Amino acid sequence: MIPKAELHCHLEGSITPALARELAARNGLALPDGLFGPDGSYVWRDFLSFLAAYDRVCGVLKTPRDFGDVIYSYLVGAAAQGAVYVEMFCSPERPKALGIAYADWLAALADGIDRASRECGIVGRIIVVCIRHLGPERALALVERMVAEPHPYVVAFGMGGDEAKYTPADFAPAYRLAHEKGYGCTVHAGEVLGPESVWGAIRALPVSRIGHGVRSAEDPALLEELARRGTVLEVCPGSNIALGVYPDRAAHPLHRLIASGVRVTLNSDDPPFFHTTLAAEYEAAGLPDTALRQIVRTAIEASFVDAATKRRLLEGVQS
Ligand code: ADE
Ligand code: ZN
Repeated sequence: MIPKAELHCHLEGSITPALARELAARNGLALPDGLFGPDGSYVWRDFLSFLAAYDRVCGVLKTPRDFGDVIYSYLVGAAAQGAVYVEMFCSPERPKALGIAYADWLAALADGIDRASRECGIVGRIIVVCIRHLGPERALALVERMVAEPHPYVVAFGMGGDEAKYTPADFAPAYRLAHEKGYGCTVHAGEVLGPESVWGAIRALPVSRIGHGVRSAEDPALLEELARRGTVLEVCPGSNIALGVYPDRAAHPLHRLIASGVRVTLNSDDPPFFHTTLAAEYEAAGLPDTALRQIVRTAIEASFVDAATKRRLLEGVQS
């Protein structure tokens, strides 16, 4: 089995239907109507209804322990698929709405990471993310909290949500603060919108990685620029196909991105929503083992983990 590393997976997006049922039962909550289809999987139709379904799944979370159990459960499952390192996108907005203190939420996540590490040896880290459609003020407030209450497992800042709302430049103050304080930076772009959204992101924000970025393939000058800068794309083919960005794997630009010299990684995004897993992404990539191993090295090199851990992880995946 190829050792794997994942840079792009959303905490709440990793909740399987089974775990959602378990958490709802534990918290005495009714599952939202229409959340599951007849086959037991999550129901949604397009990008915005996916974001709405995602929000409704978040509704099963109530206590700090719930968040810790979600990350633990994902990491243990990822380790069984060969993952040695996972960076998880974690949004403080949900715990805040539940009245959970930032430090309590982080302590629970760290406990989940430590439990998974003790049991499986996997290394987990946290990327604190803002939600784009909630706006730049919320994003800045969130980074201010992140820098005021540092935690050794919080290594970076990112942004997901509705790409059509606001511009990357609107979030420059939040990103600037995170970057100045030494945090890694990544942003979703070029998923729903075209190459101009990636141009906007790399021009306005201090990012070394782009979440998705696959629509860059439509602009040769952008591909050249990404390759020149060494910007790493967090590519999630199964997610793109499920969301209808591309009709199938044959139409997906993964191979073209690699051929253009752009650094890419493979990721699962919100695996149960998109009927995928990290291992499935590696299997379905249509790439030889040498290329997959290069993708793992790229992921570890582009990760935001401390230098000593990065070196150890890189040594571990050399074959
Ligand atoms: N939040 C969770 N998954 C996302 C995605 N694929 N794009 C943007 N925001 C998200
Ligand atoms: Zn994502």
